[in-house]
Amino acid sequence: MKGVVLAGGKATRLRPLTKVTNKHLLPIYDKPLIYYPLEAMARAGITEVLVITNPEHAGHFIQLLGSGREFGLKIAYELQEEAGGLAQAVGLAEGFAGQDKLLVLLGDNIFTHDLRGAVERFTAEQQGAVIFAVEMDHPEQYGVIEMDGERVVGIEEKPQQPKSNLIQTGIYMYDSRVWSLMEGLAPSSRGELEITDLNNVYVQEGTLRCEILDGYWIDAGTSHDELLSANIAVADLVRRGEI
Ligand code: DAU
Repeated sequence: MKGVVLAGGKATRLRPLTKVTNKHLLPIYDKPLIYYPLEAMARAGITEVLVITNPEHAGHFIQLLGSGREFGLKIAYELQEEAGGLAQAVGLAEGFAGQDKLLVLLGDNIFTHDLRGAVERFTAEQQGAVIFAVEMDHPEQYGVIEMDGERVVGIEEKPQQPKSNLIQTGIYMYDSRVWSLMEGLAPSSRGELEITDLNNVYVQEGTLRCEILDGYWIDAGTSHDELLSANIAVADLVRRGEI
């Protein structure tokens, strides 16, 4: 399985911090944000990772991360010319992935869960996709998952009236049919190809599994408060040796 970390986008919710700097280069306690998903890739047993970012900041990522040796990874880089959405960014990984399955991590997600078991399970599966869920008090700012027992019925992106408290984190696994399945996607009302629409293609096919994430998780890129809260929580996790 190959890894993809998304580190593009405009990060307008974090202005002015992100006016000249890429969100994923901002500090979280003692390291830049992008280190956390890269370390999670290494923990999961992934060795080859594609970092996708915007042209203005690509040089900074190469300077910071280099070949990836420091992480025990081999890192390749791809440019997303316009912030066309998460699914559009994933689409840029087709040549890199070849016939392999994919583990996609959003570059602003920090978590302690070890994905190694999930990677092994998904590698053994024939086909489909996997999302990883957590419960949130304010689900409306995420992709909200509707379940019927163990089965995912649908996912709604930032709904005003969420149907549950269960949200999809920025951790996704896809089989190698993802490239043809994403051809049918159309831009959303905000003009982006949404990861939620891609995941719903698998829901409709009946091949999307949802696993519950253990431990700490945060999307540090949601607001200044989430960024601050991630800094405080990570400092604590580091002191306790949990991350
Ligand atoms: O973190 C979980 C949430 O992530 C999910 O619950 C949502 O369903 C999903 O849409 C996503 O929502 P966000 O509002 O957090 O997405 P954001 O625009 O912050 O982008 C997520 C990451 O992807 C971030 O690290 C930047 C990167 N990105 C974003 C866009 C729009 C790109 O690389 N390219 C892009 O075009």
